[in-house]
Parts: sequence; structure tokens; C-alpha cells
Amino acid sequence: MSIALGRIALGCDHGGYPLKARILKEIEGAGGIAVDCGTHDTCSVDYPDFARKVGEAIIGGQADRGILLCGSGVGISIAANKMPGIRAGVCHDIYSAHQGVEHDDMNVLCLGSRIVGEEVAVELVRAFLGARYTGEERHARRLGKVLQIEADAMAGVFGK
Ligand code: RB5
Repeated sequence: MSIALGRIALGCDHGGYPLKARILKEIEGAGGIAVDCGTHDTCSVDYPDFARKVGEAIIGGQADRGILLCGSGVGISIAANKMPGIRAGVCHDIYSAHQGVEHDDMNVLCLGSRIVGEEVAVELVRAFLGARYTGEERHARRLGKVLQIEADAMAGVFGK
């Protein structure tokens, strides 16, 4: 049985741009709707701007999940995780790409185009898009604690 892929916000900086066209094609070929958040060429740009666009698309309800590409996957994941409701992970192995969704409700996959080649990236995207959060009690309990950290940070609880 196939799973509806929904709308996938796709963003990258110049470092991630070499993977973008192939990932876009994979999303659409698999029946998903790609929400292209740029960048659109190899000119040097700042990865937080594209993490922000993808995060805004998810938080604003224009996309269900996201994929972010930069050179390593690291900078863009750090930026994305600053946004409430975004749970981004850098996954360069298949297990993490689906287990991060199943256990942790990861909603943004981050990839480094300097780390993985196109075909590995496609496999990672397939693993991510094909996975669903299980909602099992222990995972829901842990996710609840993650969301509480986020809520406390938003309320300015830390450092008081
Ligand atoms: C850009 O050169 C590079 O720093 C960026 O794509 C990313 O790897 C940061 O984590």
C-alpha cells in the first residue's frame, strides 16, 4: 500500500544546490507535491534563510514536511531546529532517515551534498518520505518532553 506523500517543502543553500534537482524529481515522481523554497542557482547564499523558508512553510501549513540541503546538512539543521514545531535531523544512513520519523516525529530531513551522492540521497529521501510516526507510548512520552523543552524556551524559562 502506498502512503500519500503530501506537500514537501524543499530548500537548500548553494552547498546543497547540486542535489536539489534530483530530490525535486524524486518527490514529484513519487507522487508528492514539492514546494520549492530555493535557492535557485549556485550563487553563494546563507543557509539560515532557506531553513527559515522551509520552516515557515511547515508552520504556516503550506507544507507537511521538509527537506533541507546544504554542504554538510549541519548548519541548515541547526537553523531549522530553532523554529518551534520543526524537528530536523541530519541523516546520512537509511536507518536514521526512517527511524527519526517513526520514533521522534522528525519532520525535516537534512542532507549534506558534500557527504552523500545523488543516489544515496534519493534512498535517504525515500526512507524519510515512506516513514510515519508510530505514536507508541514511549515515543509519545519522549516527544512530549521535547515539546515541553520548546515551550519552556519560548516562555523564557531557561537561565532564570
Ligand atoms: C556553505 O559553504 C556551507 O558552509 C554550508 O552549505 C553548510 O555546509 C553549513 O553547514
